[in-house]
Amino acid sequence: MALSSTLSRLNLIPRPWLPYTVTTLRALKLKPHKPQLLRPKWAPLTLSSFSVSAQIHRPQDDNLVVLGIETSCDDTAAAVVRSSGDILSQVVSSQADLLVRYGGVAPKMAEEAHSQVIDQVVQEALNQANVSETDLSAVAVTIGPGLSLCLRVGVQKARKTAGSFNLPIIGVHHMEAHALVARLVERELQFPFMALLISGGHNLLILAQGLGQYIQLGTSIDDAIGEAYDKTAKWLGLDMRRSGGPAIEELAQEGDAESIKFSIPMKQHKDCNFSYAGLKTQVRLAIESKNIQDRRSRADIAASFQRVAVLHLEERCQRAIQWALKIEPSIKHLVVSGGVASNQYVRARLDQVVKKNSLQLVCPPPSLCTDNGVMVAWTGIEHFRMGRFDPPPPAVESEDFVYDLRPRWPLGEEYAEGRSEARSLRKARIHPSLTSIIQASLQQQH
Ligand code: KG4
Ligand code: ZN
Repeated sequence: MALSSTLSRLNLIPRPWLPYTVTTLRALKLKPHKPQLLRPKWAPLTLSSFSVSAQIHRPQDDNLVVLGIETSCDDTAAAVVRSSGDILSQVVSSQADLLVRYGGVAPKMAEEAHSQVIDQVVQEALNQANVSETDLSAVAVTIGPGLSLCLRVGVQKARKTAGSFNLPIIGVHHMEAHALVARLVERELQFPFMALLISGGHNLLILAQGLGQYIQLGTSIDDAIGEAYDKTAKWLGLDMRRSGGPAIEELAQEGDAESIKFSIPMKQHKDCNFSYAGLKTQVRLAIESKNIQDRRSRADIAASFQRVAVLHLEERCQRAIQWALKIEPSIKHLVVSGGVASNQYVRARLDQVVKKNSLQLVCPPPSLCTDNGVMVAWTGIEHFRMGRFDPPPPAVESEDFVYDLRPRWPLGEEYAEGRSEARSLRKARIHPSLTSIIQASLQQQH
């Protein structure tokens, strides 16, 4: 479909994605607010009223087809998704063999692996969807957070495709995509909602007030939970081919979760931040001090680790729900997404916390919890409908073009009550948050 006809049908004009100036950002002091500003003045949507609702996000008459590309970590993924919510294709090429060899993600190796398969993965996604590039309405791609070397491979491919076929391009925040894919799965899921995002690189508790508008209730001050699963699996000598998480989950079923008394992280910090570095050390010491030759003792460690790792999540979620309900009493859902959310034990335990608070748990299916292109395409669709995208790049990129990659990119501003002393030890972050950028661009239009 031609770009101009797509745009005119949606009554949108191209708009540089996430423009901001340092001055406007500095002037910004994010306060919890109602999401009433999402329709930019310059992009009058044809819909009659503006509020963040299913009508706005899923008009019956649009038929966008978006290609999503994801290369932020160790999976090379692409998918084609329709704005109606139909997933036309989903392709993931994982770097399992590299993970086994290095016991983690080595950026240079991961970059090479992405480069080797990216063309094939994208082509396969188009083939499976039975579309060609000319049928696409836009290309969405993860621009951060993640490993720069890896992000670059996806962004390069996205720009090449978009440039050759005159398609707009949407830069996507990886963690926002983990959260928003829940809206593709669960049609009833409206803003505001809460999300716990648990992956290999991040633990995040957020309050999603609107598209691109997030309050960060808690984050990881050191290692994320997925990293702890992966290292525990590696030290126990488990098969890492499907990553460490599934191996621990499986083995833990045979173990006694009470057999080793690991202590719950950050008990003394009454906030919603996470820390898994200490638990990792506890597990390593336990493994070093025990005979782990027999399967039973390995299973006991796996089960004991998993119990405490998840208790930490439960405790933080319970507190975060109280905080979130103070800000937005209408919240009904907690989304749990990211690779670790494919774990059945994690889901069952969090379901209890959520039910106790009379909320509902929304967990995407495992294939949409781990890194995938569908979540990127879908998030692209959500932003595209709001007029947030870049115009098509030139067919031939200039040699000195600098890619907009955001390896350290917070999703939202920290909730004041959630600021912990432990957090202040972290290094300064690099990129302004997605939420502050969107707010700055909206303010500029007024
Ligand atoms: O979201 P994701 O695919 O990639 C990142 O953005 O990091 O998450 C990957 C993480 C890995 O640490 C992996 O071990 C973990 O998710 N994971 C699991 C399970 N499946 C994947 N952790 C626990 N149980 C699982 N079943
Ligand atoms: Zn992820």
